Amino acid sequence: MRVSTVLLASATAAAAAPTNVTSFYSTWMADSFLSKKHPIDNHYVSNVINEGIRKAALAHKNATLLSWASKAISSIVDANGTIKNWDPYYYSLDDQRLGNNILYFWDAEGRKEKKYEIAAASLKAQLDRFPRNDEGGFWHRSPTYPNQMWLDGIYMADQFYAQYTAYFQPDNTTAWNDIILQFDLIEKHTRNQTTNLLAHGYDGSKKAVWADPVTGAAPHVWDRAVGWYFMVLVEVLQIYPKELPGYARLLGYFTSLAAGLKKAQDKSGGWWLIMDEPYPGAKGNYIESSGTAMFTYGFLKGVRTGLLDSQYKQPAIKAYDLMIEKFIKYETNGTLSWEGTVSVGSLGSNGSYEYYIGVPLGENDGKGAGSFMMAAAEYEML
Ligand SMILES: *[C@@H]1O[C@H](CO)[C@@H](O)[C@H](O)[C@H]1NC(C)=O
Ligand SMILES: *[C@@H]1O[C@H](CO)[C@@H](O)[C@H](O)[C@H]1NC(C)=O
Ligand SMILES: *[C@@H]1O[C@H](CO)[C@@H](O)[C@H](O)[C@H]1NC(C)=O
Ligand SMILES: *[C@@H]1O[C@H](CO)[C@@H](O)[C@H](O)[C@H]1NC(C)=O
Ligand SMILES: *[C@@H]1O[C@H](CO)[C@@H](O)[C@H](O)[C@H]1NC(C)=O
Ligand SMILES: *[C@@H]1O[C@H](CO)[C@@H](O)[C@H](O)[C@H]1NC(C)=O
Ligand SMILES: *[C@@H]1O[C@H](CO)[C@@H](O)[C@H](O)[C@H]1NC(C)=O
Repeated sequence: MRVSTVLLASATAAAAAPTNVTSFYSTWMADSFLSKKHPIDNHYVSNVINEGIRKAALAHKNATLLSWASKAISSIVDANGTIKNWDPYYYSLDDQRLGNNILYFWDAEGRKEKKYEIAAASLKAQLDRFPRNDEGGFWHRSPTYPNQMWLDGIYMADQFYAQYTAYFQPDNTTAWNDIILQFDLIEKHTRNQTTNLLAHGYDGSKKAVWADPVTGAAPHVWDRAVGWYFMVLVEVLQIYPKELPGYARLLGYFTSLAAGLKKAQDKSGGWWLIMDEPYPGAKGNYIESSGTAMFTYGFLKGVRTGLLDSQYKQPAIKAYDLMIEKFIKYETNGTLSWEGTVSVGSLGSNGSYEYYIGVPLGENDGKGAGSFMMAAAEYEML
């Protein structure tokens, strides 16, 4: 057993933690999650945790953890390629997120297992049947959110869509154009060109109570939605063919959002739950941990893969230090818990500031902790 010793990243962190730890935070958090026996299923949260564990494992070449992640995905796909507890005729973009983990293990382990190919093809076939708004954007969920696109949904579906296309239909220009269309639409309707931040989503039919009469946009910038979007941009840029015209647009969306995020970072190193003015610092608003983890991951992976220049390293390190200091809880049995993640943010609400700040926080929320594992894995690769 190889145990690594790392000094904590900052002096402030030492106050809240042991003076050093004999493990990396990414694998430590991954281990802690395994000890909590979280569910293994096709839900997107389980898949964010699974991806966090996998990325921690890969950063440290830990075959035990990697094999755990691999077996978990294998266990939810039957030998004939049927995904357990999945309804092919229920249209919710959240369900597509699993596809990404399926494709990872289809490719990475070199076995090109047929059952994964079948499962991925059925998810893609579901996407081909998905209801869309007038401009061709996938509905976030049917029939609950007609004509609506949310930043969250871009993360849930479009990395899978791009990876599937890259593996199985690399010359399918229709698919590549359709993928970039999803980004173009969400950009057109939700980005504020002054702040470079994006509202949570929009309604193409402008009927939702919160919809702006001109753009259809939701009124607020919610940190986790922007976090999902920042992460999917850095992932799809690894996949999208550079020679297609869409690539330069995607890169522009990513780098300009990075600039907006750098500007919006609080002096503590974190980001506010509601990020649009005048709410940062306002009564009821707070520094939220899942968004902070996602932005940290996006910055660090962006820098590592050459998409961002090195000016983004310092903000990411500052955010990482804050997470270690503020959002990690050291349990007496040696495991870690993760704090400060808002349980939900939905455009099924009235979309108001009061709604978002009224949603409770959860402990060990996988949307935050899984993203933290990814961010910590990137940090440890620095
Ligand atoms: C890999 O992770 C397992 C379980 O988390 C841990 O017990 C083991 O020490 C790690 N192995 C190495 C080589 O770091
Ligand atoms: C870290 O803590 C362990 C156990 O308390 C100790 O043996 C080790 O010397 C410490 N390492 C550093 C670099 O301080
Ligand atoms: C350690 O303690 C935490 C918090 O009480 C608990 O959730 C977890 O299951 C425990 N893990 C082990 C391995 O005992
Ligand atoms: C696939 O296998 C599962 C479990 O054995 C079974 O329930 C399902 O009906 C099978 N599906 C098809 C399409 O054969
Ligand atoms: C190409 O992609 C489109 C959009 O995803 C899809 O509808 C179509 O079936 C694909 N064509 C082929 C030949 O796979
Ligand atoms: C964009 O953000 C600026 C600065 O907060 C604000 O003044 C402006 O109203 C916003 N634009 C839109 C369309 O919301
Ligand atoms: C919106 O919903 C929140 C609770 O989620 C409530 O506090 C607020 O008063 C509502 N605002 C409007 C304008 O209905």
